[in-house]
Amino acid sequence: MSSIGRVDRLWRQARIATMMAGGAPFGLIADGAIAARDGRIVWAGPMAALPRDVDSAETIDLGGRLVTPGLIDCHTHLVFAGDRSREFDLRLEGASYVEIARAGGGIASTVLLTRAADEATLLRETLPRLDALIAEGVTTIEIKSGYGLDGDNEIKLLRVARRLAAERSVTVSTSFLGAHALPREFAGRPDDYIDLVCRDMLPAAAALVDAVDGFVERIGFTAAQLRRVFTVARALGLPVRLHAEQLSLCGGAALAAEFGALSADHLEHADEAGVAALARAGTVAVLLPGAYYFLRETQLPPVELLRRHAVPIAVATDCNPGSSPLSSLLLALNMACTLFRLTPEEALVGATRHAARALGLAAEAGTIEPGKWCDLCVWDVEQPAQLAYRIGFNPLERRIWRGQ
Ligand code: NIG
Ligand code: FE
Repeated sequence: MSSIGRVDRLWRQARIATMMAGGAPFGLIADGAIAARDGRIVWAGPMAALPRDVDSAETIDLGGRLVTPGLIDCHTHLVFAGDRSREFDLRLEGASYVEIARAGGGIASTVLLTRAADEATLLRETLPRLDALIAEGVTTIEIKSGYGLDGDNEIKLLRVARRLAAERSVTVSTSFLGAHALPREFAGRPDDYIDLVCRDMLPAAAALVDAVDGFVERIGFTAAQLRRVFTVARALGLPVRLHAEQLSLCGGAALAAEFGALSADHLEHADEAGVAALARAGTVAVLLPGAYYFLRETQLPPVELLRRHAVPIAVATDCNPGSSPLSSLLLALNMACTLFRLTPEEALVGATRHAARALGLAAEAGTIEPGKWCDLCVWDVEQPAQLAYRIGFNPLERRIWRGQ
């Protein structure tokens, strides 16, 4: 029997969904214990195998409750000002997302409001969205820029994203999304804007950035334009991810694969060649059922192809004001099952193990095993599948971030 020695905290009588691959469904341990030291898990396993020498400063009996890894929302646009409820009205009257964007609304309207807001205002407007996610057990969140679209405003968004990590007990991973939409001062000159992104904006923001994102789409940029941005990202040593094949097939999946992207996101219109390329590159497919639902899309992502090619699937909220004003990751899990036909286990893997991989954090988070951050959720449910099954119900009993 192994030895543990002194630990800060020991949780006992837990039903643990470790979310590790290869064992029982959900990596389940029926009657388990978890020990943490210095914010990391040092031991996790069945109670019967708990080393006798464990000496814990604090021991917590969970009474058989379910424990999962802390949830990871690996795709959000959390920091923005204002809302787009007027566009919601327009869409319900029949206008499409693309038509609204082409008429100067859409992302551009949020850019106007966000440029006008200072950091304190953005922080104040963003915290309720973050708190809603945290209340459901999110312990790691990815946050993109992309509503500034000039050097100073993109940096302002990234600084607010970093501030959020100081205000709350949550890990924030940032993505630079300068290539999100064409700012109106560059109307008709997309290549000039991409020049600015490559020469000035991305290098200036790099210190605040964990990855580089983009939007390859008819209302976004071409794959050739994003290839230039990704080439700069590579030179700066930054990993990439991409909004790919959301509204049409534009070659985003192939581009993401070409650069060994951490993730390719949305993918409703991806074809088999794109999926096969993602598989070869080891890129995670991030599915965003909130955007599919809110835009009333009908083209389903190619889930069967993703499974057949063994592409890891993650699920996220895409929390943003235009296509997915969703601040519930549990609802995203339910939607991934009801709309995309993921199994509850695939959905939960998608918000834990695969979401960690999509952020390049597979060694730190996403499963309950020794060495990883001690980020845990304790739930008042019997079965892990219930987390994806119920709608509009939050069974979180407690949330532990870095062992606390
Ligand atoms: O992920 N696709 C591009 N970006 C966002 C939408 C942003 C917006 O409409 O404000 C998305 O769907
Ligand atoms: Fe998005």
